Amino acid sequence: MLSETAKQKIQELKARYPNARSAVMPALYVAQAEYGWLPQEAIDAVAAEMGMTSTEVGSVASFYTMYHVKPVGAHVIDFCTDLPCALAGADAAFARLRERLGLDAHQETTADDAITLRHAPCLGGCDKVPTLLLDNQAQYQNMTDEKLDALVAQLRVAHDKS
Ligand code: FES
Repeated sequence: MLSETAKQKIQELKARYPNARSAVMPALYVAQAEYGWLPQEAIDAVAAEMGMTSTEVGSVASFYTMYHVKPVGAHVIDFCTDLPCALAGADAAFARLRERLGLDAHQETTADDAITLRHAPCLGGCDKVPTLLLDNQAQYQNMTDEKLDALVAQLRVAHDKS
C-alpha cells in the first residue's frame, strides 16, 4: 500500500501536466522508491492514483528498464553489452563480474541482496566503453577489471554499513 505521502506526491505530479496521465512515469518512480521495486500491488496502487488501468500502468513499467518489475538488490548495475562495448570486451568483463559476485547462470542478484547485475542495451556512452549504469543514476565508463573490482568493493562496503 502506498503511503499517504506517496499518494500526495503522485497527485502533485498529476497537477503539473496538462494531461494528468502523463505523470505515470514519475508516479512509478514514487512507488518504486517506496517498495524498492514494482510488485503488482504497487502497479495497482499507481493505477488507482492515476485513474488508469493496471494493465496500462504495468505496460509502462515493463517497457522501460529503469523500472524494476522484479525484486532487485540494494544496488543495480546495468552493464552494456551492445556492440561497441562488446568490441571492447564487455562480454568477458560481464562474465568475470558475474563470477566475482557469485551469481549462477539464472541469478541476477547476490545472495545478500546487495547487488543486482543485468545486461543493458546501449547506454549512450559508446565513446568510452565498456560502460555501465549504477542505480539508474551514474554512468561509469572505460570499465577495466580493476575498476569493476573497486566498484564492487565500494558497493559491498556501502551495503554492509546500511
Ligand atoms: Fe555500450 Fe553504447 S554500446 S554504451
